Amino acid sequence: MATSFMGSLLVMLCLVSPLLLAGAVHSEPWWYGLFPQFYDRSCPQAKDIVRSIVAQAVAREPRMAASLVRLHFHDCFVKGCDASVLLDNSSSIVSEKGSNPNRNSLRGFELVDEIKVALEEACHGTVSCADILALAARDSTVLVGGPYWQVPLGRRDSLDASIQGSNNDIPAPNDTLSTIITKFKLQGLNLVDVVALSGGHTIGMSRCTSFRQRLYNQTGNGMADVTLDVSYAAQLRQGCPQSGGDDNLFPLEFVSPAKFDNLYFKNILSGKGLLSSDQVLLTQNAETAALVNAYAADVDVFFQQFAQSMVNMGNISPLTGSQGEVRKNCRRLNSYH
Ligand code: HEM
Ligand SMILES: *[C@@H]1O[C@H](CO)[C@@H](O)[C@H](O)[C@H]1NC(C)=O
Ligand SMILES: *[C@@H]1O[C@H](CO)[C@@H](O)[C@H](O)[C@H]1NC(C)=O
Ligand SMILES: *[C@@H]1O[C@H](CO)[C@@H](O)[C@H](O)[C@H]1NC(C)=O
Repeated sequence: MATSFMGSLLVMLCLVSPLLLAGAVHSEPWWYGLFPQFYDRSCPQAKDIVRSIVAQAVAREPRMAASLVRLHFHDCFVKGCDASVLLDNSSSIVSEKGSNPNRNSLRGFELVDEIKVALEEACHGTVSCADILALAARDSTVLVGGPYWQVPLGRRDSLDASIQGSNNDIPAPNDTLSTIITKFKLQGLNLVDVVALSGGHTIGMSRCTSFRQRLYNQTGNGMADVTLDVSYAAQLRQGCPQSGGDDNLFPLEFVSPAKFDNLYFKNILSGKGLLSSDQVLLTQNAETAALVNAYAADVDVFFQQFAQSMVNMGNISPLTGSQGEVRKNCRRLNSYH
């Protein structure tokens, strides 16, 4: 009797201790992790509400899908996926919206407001702004023809923002590939994530100012980027003059900019990546070049990895448990008045 009780105790300890150890390496206990069913009891309509509002918006303007995918990226790379990117300027906040990567460029804030209002109406104080961004990015991808993935949920919203983080941690379009890889590594993402997630540029638009350097003076010798297709470059110069026209818009993937497919990678193979950061995936590293070739050759391989890498990106340092708060208005802290 006593020995069998001791036996079961021992068995239980053996089963439980690996879980405790697994929890110990993270900053939060293991039972606070993100999981797709997080709102199944507290707000069962949450996912449908997000999807239906995103669907209406994308039907009105297909580019909104791209803008929402990018919004999640620019959130996650600054202090983790905590909706810090959505905070407006206030007495205690310097908004990330004013950073170099975001200013006159990041979009979708009004749509997030619309989703938040609907969710507050349905389930007051329950669904975080950070989870709205993660769901909206997935729904956007699916709506324009990309892969589906289950979105782990349970993120909470930050109590601050970091404009320095936004300026320093988000890759720039003229960064070298090794700088880009370093910035991804800083987030716990690897080289495969770099290539797969860059495939997000299969949808959406860029301003002239983000790639002008390639057209006129790539290395400071007054010449265009030699890795850029000559006739494509000539075509781009038509709408992106040497000075002025900073905000003129160009598709990141010129063949089918409103459709999520693998043409982004095929374009790179023919020297028609728009941003320097796109083309360098082929020209600056053999491993990333092999991945560009693999994703260009097989759209299913790209889709499978994009879905996995979006989950990886969505897992960057979330606030969980009693950390942060669930904002009532995504633009300000609940303590704001
Ligand atoms: C690898 C490093 C990356 C760099 C250097 C980069 C850079 C840029 C730049 C410069 C633009 C155009 C901004 C403008 O001119 O207004 C842009 C747009 C975009 N980026 Fe990235 N990006 C990167 C990674 C990503 C990732 C990881 C995603 C998402 C998975 C993403 C999704 C997008 C989308 C969808 C757009 C179009 C947005 C719209 O049309 O509103 N990018 N990116
Ligand atoms: C926020 O305030 C700062 C400092 O006053 C200003 O430079 C910046 O442009 C503002 N940002 C936005 C998005 O309005
Ligand atoms: C990248 O572009 C920024 C903004 O235009 C510029 O200040 C910087 O010098 C460029 N960096 C390189 C390496 O060309
Ligand atoms: C190209 O860039 C270099 C270095 O930034 C600069 O000195 C030169 O004047 C530029 N040339 C042209 C044609 O803009």
